[in-house]
Amino acid sequence: MTWAFAYATPGNPAVGGWPRLCGVNIFLGILLVLHLLGWALVLGGTLTNLRTPRIAPGVLHGILTALVTGIVMAGLISSGATDEDPNNPKFAVKLVVAAVATGLVIFGSTRPERVTRRLLLGIAVLVVLNVSIAVLWT
Ligand code: HEM
Repeated sequence: MTWAFAYATPGNPAVGGWPRLCGVNIFLGILLVLHLLGWALVLGGTLTNLRTPRIAPGVLHGILTALVTGIVMAGLISSGATDEDPNNPKFAVKLVVAAVATGLVIFGSTRPERVTRRLLLGIAVLVVLNVSIAVLWT
């Protein structure tokens, strides 16, 4: 992720006219902040409820926020509207992992009596896996 402000330079030939790209990059930065806060909420919400297993309400909101922001960011980057290089195989793998995690969270939210420690650990492991993919797959 390139920081939005690094490109906020009028006349920077590398980005070809800053008003449009600067705005898109700031938008992308805001989406990334929401994306990371969403995953942080999911990880914190699952790990803090291991003793008395339950899906806290914030976890569902967090995972949906993170999923939507991730898909919007991937779409923006793939469309070429930003100065990021798209890595579509990485986006696809992350999407599959996130979809499984989201399914587990929805399952746990709709059937609270079926929530176990293993289910919560499974969600947490998938989030950590995707953080690792996001950071290490360059
Ligand atoms: C468990 C699920 C996920 C986790 C934990 C996660 C985590 C992260 C992290 C830590 C970053 C920052 C990486 C960096 O800037 O170096 C990131 C960025 C990003 N994520 Fe996710 N993500 C997840 C799911 C998704 C999904 C489903 C998509 C969409 C297909 C997505 C799209 C993106 C994009 C486009 C970026 C910014 C560009 C990049 O660094 O590749 N993420 N994500």
